[in-house]
Amino acid sequence: MPARLVIGGQWGDEGKGKIVDALAQRAAVAVRATGGNNAGHTILNPFGKFKMHLVPAGIFHPGTLAIIGNGVVIDPQGLLDELDTLTQAGIDISRLRISDRAHLVMPWHPLQDKLEEQQRGVSAIGTTGRGIGPAYADRASRTGIRVADLRDESFLTAKVVDLVERKNKLFTLYGALPLDAKQILERCFSFAERLEPYIAATEILVQDALDAGQEVLVEGAQAALLDLDFGTYPYVTSSFPTAAGSCAGAGIAPTQVRETLGVFKAYCTRVGGGPFPTELTDAIGDHIRERGQEYGTTTGRPRRCGWFDAVAGRYVIRLNDIARVALTRFDILDTLPELKVCVGYEADGVAVTRPPAGEGEWPRITPIYETLPGWEADTSAARALDELPSNARRYIERLERGLGAEVAFVGVGPSREQMITVDGSVFGEALVS
Ligand code: GDP
Ligand code: IMO
Ligand code: MG
Repeated sequence: MPARLVIGGQWGDEGKGKIVDALAQRAAVAVRATGGNNAGHTILNPFGKFKMHLVPAGIFHPGTLAIIGNGVVIDPQGLLDELDTLTQAGIDISRLRISDRAHLVMPWHPLQDKLEEQQRGVSAIGTTGRGIGPAYADRASRTGIRVADLRDESFLTAKVVDLVERKNKLFTLYGALPLDAKQILERCFSFAERLEPYIAATEILVQDALDAGQEVLVEGAQAALLDLDFGTYPYVTSSFPTAAGSCAGAGIAPTQVRETLGVFKAYCTRVGGGPFPTELTDAIGDHIRERGQEYGTTTGRPRRCGWFDAVAGRYVIRLNDIARVALTRFDILDTLPELKVCVGYEADGVAVTRPPAGEGEWPRITPIYETLPGWEADTSAARALDELPSNARRYIERLERGLGAEVAFVGVGPSREQMITVDGSVFGEALVS
């Protein structure tokens, strides 16, 4: 039974947490494969409400191994804080496994992240400030520290002393205070002690589960339009939150994937800077933000809101081979008298068929809209497509046509039950085949 991937189809916060929580109930293994604690996945389940940053949703289910894969960058303090919160809530964390190949977000990374953002000035990316970019950059430039290194005290000591010396040269240039290697090392030793029981060769655990025909679920973080290559570069994150990136970050071969489920909001949001052709800077945008409480799970920042972008969406669908979509937060649109869907882009009067590659091209992109009537009715209690008003169904059909994929699930509220499954099955069980 090959793996199932769940990825975000827009700029993040599509409601992946809710989807993976439901699906993880049946998974033998649930893996986080990319990103770090820049992610914030809200989960509302019988155990309570949780904001997960690094720990996969599988942790809630007694039959599921919850893996932080090799593609994740781990802030040890952030992880320990999250584990403490889960333990206090009575969640058993003994089934957590952390890849020994995952890289660590070290204390110099968040500092570097903030200093680089300051340098960017008006072009700031609007990062989460969690050190994600610098940690991945060090991974690529082969100066990273991996989880396995926590087990080797003398190696770790030499490495930290060397890296702190090098980073301090950079921080001096930025006019920042130098870091103290001794203090950092003491913290590392305590991280090593606490994380040791969870460190494992997770790619082997994943392959063992696949060999045994068990259900493997990959919990995507961030989203395809934040991808380093296919996102709105440079206003992206520093990982590959696509189907391909999810495979690489979990230790799964592309041929071992059964399905990539794309999670899309029924409209668009993004946090931080960067192109957003359908952004609404007017009263409608404010209305969506307030009604949807569109404030970042990780940073609390207000999210920018806008109309559904089917051009960017179709691009994501194609590059990730998504056949089925989970459309979330549909209920947030319930009060609008009319809605727009971006069905094309143009630049200087010429049709543009994909999100442009050049940063300088974005300001010329104008969305072409189709206007649809709203439904102005409460959808939160609907559990089947035919319980939705006809205008609501029309909107969904328009998105399907625009995306070139089937909407298989429609979220009409934050709780697990508030989900329409188009085939009428129980949500979560619907996808296990
Ligand atoms: P993620 O990062 O993709 O997991 O999404 P976030 O947790 O950052 O943000 C999604 C928010 O929407 C959370 O507060 C969820 O509880 C909530 N949510 C998920 N699905 C729905 C839905 O269908 N309707 C409503 N109203 N809220 C939803
Ligand atoms: P989830 O998994 C929304 C955004 C940041 C910023 C850019 C780069 O909850 O959907 P980074 O700190 O990664 O270097 O910031 O990416 N970003 C997210 N936006 N949801 C996320 O995760 C995000 N993770 C990063 O706001 O614009
Ligand atoms: Mg989020």
